[in-house]
Amino acid sequence: MASLCKVQAVACRARLGGLMSKQAAASSVSIRNNSTDEAPAKTYGPLSDEDRIFTNLYGRHDWKLKGAMARGDYYKTKEIILKGHDWILKEIVKSGLRGRGGAGFPTGMKWGFMNKPSDGRPKYLVVNADEGEPGTCKDREIMRHDPHKLVEGCLVAGVAMGARAAYIYIRGEFYNEGTNLMVAIQEAYKAGLIGKNACGSGYDFDIYVHRGAGAYICGEETSLIESLEGKAGKPRLKPPFPADIGVFGCPTTVANVETVAVAPTICRRGGDWFVGMGRTRNSGTKLFNISGQVNNPCTVEEEMSIPLKELIERHAGGVIGGWDNLLAVIPGGSSTPLIPRSVCDDVMMDFDALVQSQTALGTAAVIVFNKQADVVKGIARLIEFYKHESCGQCTPCREGTGWMTKIMYRFVEGNARPDEIDMLYELSKQIEGHTICALGDGAAWPVQGLIRHFRPELEARMEAYHKKKQAASSA
Ligand SMILES: Cc1cc2nc3c(=O)[nH]c(=O)nc-3n(C[C@H](O)[C@H](O)[C@H](O)COP(=O)(O)O)c2cc1C
Ligand code: SF4
Repeated sequence: MASLCKVQAVACRARLGGLMSKQAAASSVSIRNNSTDEAPAKTYGPLSDEDRIFTNLYGRHDWKLKGAMARGDYYKTKEIILKGHDWILKEIVKSGLRGRGGAGFPTGMKWGFMNKPSDGRPKYLVVNADEGEPGTCKDREIMRHDPHKLVEGCLVAGVAMGARAAYIYIRGEFYNEGTNLMVAIQEAYKAGLIGKNACGSGYDFDIYVHRGAGAYICGEETSLIESLEGKAGKPRLKPPFPADIGVFGCPTTVANVETVAVAPTICRRGGDWFVGMGRTRNSGTKLFNISGQVNNPCTVEEEMSIPLKELIERHAGGVIGGWDNLLAVIPGGSSTPLIPRSVCDDVMMDFDALVQSQTALGTAAVIVFNKQADVVKGIARLIEFYKHESCGQCTPCREGTGWMTKIMYRFVEGNARPDEIDMLYELSKQIEGHTICALGDGAAWPVQGLIRHFRPELEARMEAYHKKKQAASSA
């Protein structure tokens, strides 16, 4: 905070210095009066170091309590708690933070649903650290390299909701991440930062870690709750929503690791600071994962609304073979429809821009396909994943993902008729919106994206396949 004020003061002085020069002032006025040019469009990114929240993302520094405190974690946490839940919620609402788990629901509003008069049941925060979406690997970096960000986040978010405790549901495969997280929790207990009278605030708050067993569906919030209760991870029908009846029958909010981890910094620096980054309704910083055919796959924190092209070129070393060798990008994890190169040229990485391009920001896990990649095979493999992970409760998802997988693998070879493309599209539409949870939608959307943008490629494969077959039979 102090360094931020210093930066602002320097900028302010520089501005005043400029104004004091009469000549400069006169010329700037005349330029403004005579100019018919439009004001330059605002650009987003690169993120400046002063605005970075995750300052140990790459594990270059000490991840334990001493290192975390040196980086500013737990600074004035007691004061934040003492300001109370209404104040914390107000700052989160002001910040414009939207859930980082995929759906992008406004966080302040969601956490506010817990703020009902107590009926005697305890309230719980459940942190979703399942991170099963293919391409997504951001929450694990927080937990292994900056676990205290999450621990402090649980406390601040917990107070905002009036929660008695937090349960962190972490996927079982994240062994090292879970271990570091538990060490951090123990350190925080020992230092009196959580537990009874957390940070000396008078608020009692516990944190428990629960390991999952690696099912993707357990990332869906109601399925996660079932699993936490010791049952099979099968999604519940909503309503009732978790804020009414959640884990152990008590009011619960399920929130993503990144969403929770940024809350203390927002409270320390103010909602106005966070909302100053990114476009309206798309504020703040965001962890992006970039994988696929890029020179340097990476995880990076950037300003929201940064152009996709800049994100890939600046941080991932560009597309293998150059930007002109780009074929398509899945912008937000495996459930989001791909976009072709023409859209990638100038699309911004935020919720609204990607919805406008008929896709979604999702988990902000960018998967890049260059022209040497087989995009049809890539999507077929993803649909096979959804078939494998379907919990089987809904017929359209259970049967439809199997049918789509079979058809998609025939499309890879070209062993199909062109009218089957419309059949596949129709089938995906019969799944979308007709199931208990969004896994069905997540399976349907990649297929729809492929058909929307790569129909000619599918038809060409079919033509080539039938030509080859005909030639072989007449030989
Ligand atoms: C099939 C499926 C898997 C999901 N997996 C995750 C996950 O691994 N992590 C996560 O945070 N959210 C996941 N979600 C979204 C959660 O249901 C929930 O919306 C999210 O945890 C809310 O957190 P947020 O408000 O902070 O975004 C998944 C949703 C579905 C339908
Ligand atoms: S959509 Fe699929 S994963 Fe979700 S509840 Fe229905 S069958 Fe299960």
